[in-house]
Amino acid sequence: MARIGILGATGYTGVELVLALEGHPEAELVFLSSEASAGMRLQQVFPRLSGCTKIRNLTLRTAADCQDASVDVVFSCLPHGASAEACSAFLAGGAKVIDLSADFRLRDPSDYPRWYGKPHPLPAKLSEAVYCIPELHRQDLAGASLVANPGCYPTSILLPLVPLARAGGLGAGLVIADSKSGVSGAGRKPSLATAFCETNESFSAYKVGRKHQHLGEMLQELGRARTGGVPLVFSPHLVPMERGILSTLYIPLAASWTGARVRDLLAETFAGEPFVQVLAGEDGLPSTSHVAHSNRCHIGVAEQPEQDIVVVVSVIDNLVKGASGQALQNWNALFGYPETLGLAP
Ligand SMILES: NC(=O)c1ccc[n+]([C@@H]2O[C@H](COP(=O)([O-])OP(=O)(O)OC[C@H]3O[C@@H](n4cnc5c(N)ncnc54)[C@H](OP(=O)(O)O)[C@@H]3O)[C@@H](O)[C@H]2O)c1
Repeated sequence: MARIGILGATGYTGVELVLALEGHPEAELVFLSSEASAGMRLQQVFPRLSGCTKIRNLTLRTAADCQDASVDVVFSCLPHGASAEACSAFLAGGAKVIDLSADFRLRDPSDYPRWYGKPHPLPAKLSEAVYCIPELHRQDLAGASLVANPGCYPTSILLPLVPLARAGGLGAGLVIADSKSGVSGAGRKPSLATAFCETNESFSAYKVGRKHQHLGEMLQELGRARTGGVPLVFSPHLVPMERGILSTLYIPLAASWTGARVRDLLAETFAGEPFVQVLAGEDGLPSTSHVAHSNRCHIGVAEQPEQDIVVVVSVIDNLVKGASGQALQNWNALFGYPETLGLAP
């Protein structure tokens, strides 16, 4: 059994991890952190967890109080900034860290202030971190101590786009990523923008074009997939649903590429992957409800009459494939377990 700690267990991604680890045969939970609810049990904060046996004897402790715990793995579900600082003690103690925040996703320390508005709290560790969407980067995980779990929007966009960039299928011109997210993407901390009366029966765009912080990691990973990178604009939207992301990608195609060829490439790339499904043409396009509460990504390819562009639609659950499910998949891959362990198909 691996001894596991969760930093930020009272957040939406933390709770999702607790639920998944309950069904993981190799996981023993050793600590759960919270600042606001320290001293309580997690089941008191989330009564729906009352059936989880692995947390029954644990009391929530502050992140600082957890630092002396003896653990093999720490999942950090803290906000960026706080996460890097809290992770550093565990890394120094020899634990493996899987960080769900954005703190270790950008390799170049100068990118962090550009996207997150402040200097990186632990720049020396950035070169050790492995950015990993397992279906695209699992070969990079060998021997890693620090895994940067990708962002939710980037997971939905990079899964279809990176194979196409690697294969030379992208033409000249901009790729446009237009994404919609459920409100849980903003986390549990209350804010005016995510209050019920602001989001219910409303649909809004935010940080459109080249402003959203997730653009940084997407440009970085597309730069690794194709020499010279891929020009990308990204417009996220908030939709009045609890969970899920749908990304629609408008992709210019290289000469001799067609929508059918794109679908074939993606189907071949993800054949044998338990969590990524490329829909056949007759199956239409995916919806967020098709993947809710699962670690799956469904990808649909809409061929266009003039074959100069293709439109690709990708859906995930932001809290699972976009966060905690992918983190668990990364842990499984890192420790040599089947990647599906603890994750419902
Ligand atoms: N939500 C998503 O869809 C999603 C997807 C991918 C990645 N992420 C990333 O995953 C991380 C967690 O997201 P989330 O949605 O679960 O957030 P959340 O619901 O707001 O939860 C944040 C957690 O961190 C704790 N916390 C907050 N500030 C802290 C601090 N300064 N020091 C120590 N603990 C602190 C909170 O504990 P208390 O409030 O109990 O004190 C809570 O347990 C974030 O970095 C986020 O960007 C989120």
